[in-house]
Amino acid sequence: STQRVWLHWVSAAVIIWTLVSGFYVAFVDVPARVGERVAFINVSLTTVFIPFFVWRLFIFVVHARQTSVNTLSSMEKLALFAHTLIYLTVTVVLVTGVLMMDRSIDVFGWFDIAQPLSDPALIALFVTIHVWSCLVLSL
Ligand code: HEM
Repeated sequence: STQRVWLHWVSAAVIIWTLVSGFYVAFVDVPARVGERVAFINVSLTTVFIPFFVWRLFIFVVHARQTSVNTLSSMEKLALFAHTLIYLTVTVVLVTGVLMMDRSIDVFGWFDIAQPLSDPALIALFVTIHVWSCLVLSL
């Protein structure tokens, strides 16, 4: 449907921008101000993206439940499998992104969401899972 096509391209734009800019500022020597600006934009953007992704996931699950896997060709099965893996990875990236926050989530200066965890060891664990799941998503 037109709605799914829009959701697809909005997701692609947000995810590709965040992956490229996030890894760029992490691995290339950029001025601290640029790194902070990119982190602020990316945290805000991906937080706003969460409800869109949940909506997309909902449509995907409803659609998948209506599909009889046995009637699919092997290429369609492979596509369904690949999409399921992508949805799963994006879910892990979004959840760990929120849980790794060591400060409140400032969404474009419009509103704040309280930092969910305070245990530094747990936050460090979610940082590690976030970075690795971002690498998997890039692949
Ligand atoms: C599609 C969703 C997301 C993608 C693709 C993504 C991608 C990335 C990437 C590539 C990095 C750099 C990793 C590194 O340091 O090597 C990063 C860092 C980070 N991400 Fe995410 N992320 C997403 C969602 C989120 C969300 C929802 C939050 C929190 C609300 C978040 C918070 C952070 C933070 C705090 C950092 C460290 C940057 C800093 O503050 O210095 N991310 N992300």
